[in-house]
Amino acid sequence: MGERIHIFDTTLRDGEQSPGCSLNLTEKLEMARQLDHLGVDIIEAGFPIASEGDYEAVKAIALEIRRPVIAALARANEKDIERAWDAVRHAARARLHTFYATSDIHLQYKLHKTRAEALSQIERMVALAASLTPDVEFSPEDAGRTDREYLIEVCHAAVEAGATVLNLPDTVGYCLGPEYERMFRDVRERVPGMDRVELSTHSHNDLGLAMANTLAGIRGGARQVECTINGIGERAGNAALEEVAMALRLRQADLGFETGIRTEELYPASCLLTRLTGVAVQPNKAIVGKNAFAHEAGIHQDGVLKCPLTYEIMTPESVGVPSTAIVLGKHSGRHALAKRFEELGYSLTKLELDHAYELFCRLADRKKRIYDEDLIDIASRGFEAMPRSFNLRRVETKTANEGATAAVEIERDGETLRAASGGVDIEDALFRAIDKVTGVIGKLADFAAHTSGTNGDRRTEVSVRALFSGREFTGRAAAPLSVEAAGRAYLQAANKAVVHRDHGDLAVAGTECGTLTMTAGAD
Ligand code: KIV
Ligand code: ZN
Repeated sequence: MGERIHIFDTTLRDGEQSPGCSLNLTEKLEMARQLDHLGVDIIEAGFPIASEGDYEAVKAIALEIRRPVIAALARANEKDIERAWDAVRHAARARLHTFYATSDIHLQYKLHKTRAEALSQIERMVALAASLTPDVEFSPEDAGRTDREYLIEVCHAAVEAGATVLNLPDTVGYCLGPEYERMFRDVRERVPGMDRVELSTHSHNDLGLAMANTLAGIRGGARQVECTINGIGERAGNAALEEVAMALRLRQADLGFETGIRTEELYPASCLLTRLTGVAVQPNKAIVGKNAFAHEAGIHQDGVLKCPLTYEIMTPESVGVPSTAIVLGKHSGRHALAKRFEELGYSLTKLELDHAYELFCRLADRKKRIYDEDLIDIASRGFEAMPRSFNLRRVETKTANEGATAAVEIERDGETLRAASGGVDIEDALFRAIDKVTGVIGKLADFAAHTSGTNGDRRTEVSVRALFSGREFTGRAAAPLSVEAAGRAYLQAANKAVVHRDHGDLAVAGTECGTLTMTAGAD
């Protein structure tokens, strides 16, 4: 048994802050349930002052998820702290996480404060947080570039004021391992009262060092690690939870630590996040990337067949990657499909499975072998096929001398809706035609397409980010035809916007669904 490292997951806060990764309340709750299932010790559920949506999500998570500590982030000022506490106070174990930048560069250019002013604010605000809950985390933002003497002074003041966790972030991903380790040693050795306080790492990946620095922080004395699923987070991201958990597990004999993570839930957590955000994981991503257990070179394949240990340092099953023993194809039944969905982290209702199975059979007629990515895609379409969602049935596009035209056939609640539009290019025409059906008008913020495979196996995966009434929604879909993938990805984002509009939390930029220039008719 090793010494316990506490896993602080910030997927729903730092992760959710990254472009294209925003989630709505239902999605955050679904993710929080999986994080609970995964065994994380602390869930940072959001930054309640940032938006009404964040506030509601933190509150909902605090009310429902009872095992882990639920943390809410607040800048070190009264308004933030009170708002964060109001949201998180419902938790079985609530934590306030407050932060204040302490590097000269942040103090001078961002906050326009002197060191003395910052110190006094930190003292007062940590004390305020401590008057609300016994579990208070303080982060001197940009600790990695903070003058060491001043950092010690700040940490001392925070501990005196009641902080029980000191998190030392490398906010800009600048530190090298030995520097980061040294900072932890200095704080641990020089700040009085550290025997009552847990040290925490928080590394960003701007130099690709987030994971290495996390281990360096642990060497320096940290026993809490802040990380995110798939390593999402500001800019280049945070340390990836799956990497930290597997390194500590695999090298436990050398490192001497353990976590409470059920590692078989790592891949399902990664898949769930991909489905919810529409942001794909790079194929060569450690642990959860599509190629993490793929062996291409003949010598490697030969070695793995003789003994997997030749080229695999962990089994796919140990991180929840489904075994490839069952190959799904057109002869597979509903049971095998449901089982594989389960392994991928989806528990489908009967209705969802019915929809998913129908889509699976249609795809299996066209494609010999069905991969996990296809299933993830099918699952999201299965969910979309729930009542009151729009589903793309048919697309026709034409390029003209100037621009393009598109005609779509979309189904909702058994009704078939049709619309056509012109546009500057095929995607523009397609999205405008979809807008006419859904009644919400999107402005494309980002579009990424990736085509893979050959001839009969070709598929294009599309991710879109679009603004509906100024609010960003994402969609992701894959299909053999790129135009179909683009239409479905955009429609997935539009479906989310429609849900928000129907709940009254999205200003209506379009018109009521189904009343524009399209024609509607029974199927
Ligand atoms: O990177 C950072 O400094 C942060 C803090 C708010 C902890 O995310
Ligand atoms: Zn951060």
